[in-house]
Amino acid sequence: MKRFVILTGAGISAESGISTFRDHDGLWQTHRMEDLATPEAWKRNPELVLEFYNQRRKQLFEVNPNAGHLALVKLEEKFDVQIITQNVDDLHERAGSSNVLHLHGELRKASSTIDPNLVYDIGNKPIKLGDLCEKGSQLRPYVVWFGEPVPKIHEAVTLASKADIFIVIGTSLLVYPASGLIHYVAIEVPKYYVDPKAFGVHGVRNLNVIKQKAGTGVPELVKELLQNV
Ligand code: APR
Repeated sequence: MKRFVILTGAGISAESGISTFRDHDGLWQTHRMEDLATPEAWKRNPELVLEFYNQRRKQLFEVNPNAGHLALVKLEEKFDVQIITQNVDDLHERAGSSNVLHLHGELRKASSTIDPNLVYDIGNKPIKLGDLCEKGSQLRPYVVWFGEPVPKIHEAVTLASKADIFIVIGTSLLVYPASGLIHYVAIEVPKYYVDPKAFGVHGVRNLNVIKQKAGTGVPELVKELLQNV
């Protein structure tokens, strides 16, 4: 069975109504990333940080997977499919994808501030100041902030290096180390990049650039791959 590895970013969830980060209406255009998504911001004003992620968690339960998420599930009929997502939403899981690796964390979880191994399912509940882990420290969003290590990157690199087909969807490829994953995919492996602003990546061979939105570009690509691979 051919192994498909799929890297997704905020763009795959845009048509579900979740803002991306760097588009003209993106979250980092309307909010200061330095005040919300860094360890320093958390130290300075944890309440503000919690409120930002509480709102995003609440929004998650008002949106649904779109045709892009759903098309990726169909690939599982014929292929071994592994999704690596930079997204903290759960739309891949809710669409029905079986294997989803969250590089940057998950909104539906909270983690301890003294022991990163303590991770809790919180569903759609807000995290409040005073909510503690079992060791007595404040709970924080289970999200990788700028300046923090990305613990799952090693697993992601291994997956990328074993791909028979590699697909990138809805990411600006501006944030390291996720943006570097494509360089671990073997040269001869066919690669696809579906994004209205997709571009040829320097040093990457066999890359098919598909300048389309996920909601239309992904179902078309999936149909073609199911028929021809
Ligand atoms: N379909 C597909 N792609 C889209 C769509 C759409 N409907 N709408 C926008 N896009 C694309 C944009 O063209 C852009 O390339 O989605 C991409 C979004 O890029 P970013 O906002 O930079 O999001 P992402 O690449 O996921 O950001 C990476 O940055 O702030 C951090 O941790 C956060 O995981 C995030 C990381």
